[in-house]
Amino acid sequence: MGSQEIHEMKNIMQIFRVSGDNLEEIIKKAGSIIRQGGLVAFPTETVYGLGADALNPEAVARIFQVKGRPPDNPLIVHIGSKEQVHGIAKDISPAARKLIDIFWPGPLTMIFRRKEIVPDVTTCGLDTVAVRMPDHPVALALIKEAGTPIAAPSANRSGRPSPTTADHVVQDLGDTIDAVIDGGPVRIGVESTVLDLTSDVPAVLRPGNIGLEDIQKHLGRVITGYHELPGTVRSPGMKYTHYSPETRMVLIEGESRAVADRIRKLVMDHRGQKLRVGLLATEETCGEADEMFILGRRNDEEGVASTLFTGLRYLDARNVDIIIADGSLKHDRVGEAVLDRLKKAADEIIRVP
Ligand code: TXA
Ligand code: MG
Repeated sequence: MGSQEIHEMKNIMQIFRVSGDNLEEIIKKAGSIIRQGGLVAFPTETVYGLGADALNPEAVARIFQVKGRPPDNPLIVHIGSKEQVHGIAKDISPAARKLIDIFWPGPLTMIFRRKEIVPDVTTCGLDTVAVRMPDHPVALALIKEAGTPIAAPSANRSGRPSPTTADHVVQDLGDTIDAVIDGGPVRIGVESTVLDLTSDVPAVLRPGNIGLEDIQKHLGRVITGYHELPGTVRSPGMKYTHYSPETRMVLIEGESRAVADRIRKLVMDHRGQKLRVGLLATEETCGEADEMFILGRRNDEEGVASTLFTGLRYLDARNVDIIIADGSLKHDRVGEAVLDRLKKAADEIIRVP
């Protein structure tokens, strides 16, 4: 590489673009960076992850450093085959085995009791470990080539919306990491469902593309842990501000007609005060605003999920004084995850009848 000379002064991120038949070569280089303790961002079906050797404490510590991640927020360990779970987790119940068979590879993270081999820095000293087998050929090939499980949070700076393209990763982390594999935009667009299997009753700690009902069908009783009151947070990550645009954001929740009316009124009020308004809209609520991003039709939960974080990043970069977001989205499945992320991003939530 021509950049080698200045390498010692400043880290230079390599961008590996997957195209045609270069995947094997890319995976060789990226796998070797992981083995040497480096950081590689890579696509999964949910969002881009920032990967390091999950069993190498120094490498994992660097993830926390470059993301600015609170030191008590543990990482998900990504595996390349179902069997690999037994190397890092124990007490895997028959029910859990069933879920593994059904949902892996896929957007379901499961929390098990951890084996000693997983360093404290990866789990933040918890005696549990979060594990997921991603459903993406690049991610799977990378884990296999690295020959080690890969710890990977979303590849954003802490508090920013998760990255759904390699460009988002470059914007947030730039030359603080060693490489990003650009495999194009991700398919799902919100992070995996997190399911705690170490409690008496299994609990969904973070909603995602796999819904509560999908899990209940196979497990029986499952509760949600993400509506818990402050102070009783079970998943450390849930207590931090997330996905937040720097711009003040107001979310309007309720039935679609009422939401549309309130949005129109709020936009008028703010513009009357000479404030610039950004609207995170659905096709049903798009209208007057200074800047607008349309997530899709309100009933198209999957389409909305796939554009959500791009929309938040877009409006945040448009120099508006306020972002008004449409919360009248259908939320049977992944829409529930979208609403969860919107609530976390919002500075204020207004419920209209
Ligand atoms: O889709 C995803 O899950 C993406 C891709 C890259 O796989 N990853 C991701 O990681 O979203 P991250 O670090 O942004 O979110 C992990 C969540 C956090 O809320 C964290 O607190 C929780 O999982 N978590 C991790 N280990 C845990 C544990 N042992 N117990 C409870 N929660 C845990
Ligand atoms: Mg994250």
